[in-house]
Amino acid sequence: MEIQKFSADEVKKAANEIKKGGLVAFPTETVYGLGANALNPQAVKQVYQVKGRPSDNPLIVHVTGFEQVKAFIAKSHPLAESLVHHFWPGPLTLILPIKPDAFDAVVTGGLNTVAFRMPNQPLTLELIAEAGVPLVGPSANLSGRPSPTTADHVIHDFQTTIAGVLDGGPTQIGVESTVLDLSDETKPPMILRPGAITKDMLEQVCQSTILIDQHLVSEEEAPKAPGMKYKHYAPTIPVQMVSEHQWEEVATFLATHPLRAGILAGPTASGKVRGEAAAVYMYANDSIEAATRGLFSGLRALDESQGGLDILYVASYPEEGLGVAYMNRLKKAANHMYFTNNKSENS
Ligand code: TXA
Ligand code: MG
Repeated sequence: MEIQKFSADEVKKAANEIKKGGLVAFPTETVYGLGANALNPQAVKQVYQVKGRPSDNPLIVHVTGFEQVKAFIAKSHPLAESLVHHFWPGPLTLILPIKPDAFDAVVTGGLNTVAFRMPNQPLTLELIAEAGVPLVGPSANLSGRPSPTTADHVIHDFQTTIAGVLDGGPTQIGVESTVLDLSDETKPPMILRPGAITKDMLEQVCQSTILIDQHLVSEEEAPKAPGMKYKHYAPTIPVQMVSEHQWEEVATFLATHPLRAGILAGPTASGKVRGEAAAVYMYANDSIEAATRGLFSGLRALDESQGGLDILYVASYPEEGLGVAYMNRLKKAANHMYFTNNKSENS
């Protein structure tokens, strides 16, 4: 069966597929998720199967609000309600301890905690309400591909393997939610995956320290979120990160080297190299918000560029605010490689 595209007035149809145990991708403010009834182990198994996702990587359960969460958790966290109050609906995923057997092991990966999130997307909140059950929702990409930020990305990856995709247009933020571990009330909350809700924003609301998984600081540490240990998307061609002041150097380098280069950067940076580039995917403006919105989409487009490219140069941004989440994804895509012009380094 070919995948169906559901428009905004077809939420009921999409919900019916979910009720039948089918898989329907849904839009969120971050990236598209691959939805299935979280209380139907068969449906959830399908999600792992079609994605090619390792079974020890647990899924986020998407809800319409904290009321729905309360039915499943063994214990809340003193900070949970105020975080929910400030950031839901929104790109903050909260990990909480669950009642035994609240979810099948296929959802939890065998852990006694579950990650919950209320997405800030009216269509998807309507979908969850209409389905009448919480939905699992890993990013709706094949494992090893970038998270999808449009319905067409989803269709590209799941042409014939899922029932449908609810089209909510391009996503606003562009990278996945912040994952915050609240599973142990005796410990300060810990960020396991950076996203649009930053450490500063969380600390301001909590009026206390928020920890960061050491894995996000030092490569040697094992990550606490199972999903963070898997090799994340990297294009088939080499990617190098370029800082703001290096673009003239990149242009000079390309002028003297026969490389088919792809550029992923804002208008100012792109303007400095476009004459030497084989393909350019420009962020809508120079801001970190626009860069984050365009990162996955740009990597997909350039990786599949007609005629093929030899190298991608992608704009790096300062690691502050939203830049922490952007650089976390970009560094993985670039295997931590920065542009260095050997000649200028040696001089
Ligand atoms: O923005 C998002 O969060 C998107 C949209 C669709 O909601 N979803 C998403 O799901 O990114 P996924 O499955 O691609 O990433 C979930 C991350 C993984 O790294 C997973 O290991 C971690 O959250 N995770 C899930 N449950 C966990 C748990 N109980 N303990 C620790 N980490 C958990
Ligand atoms: Mg993912």
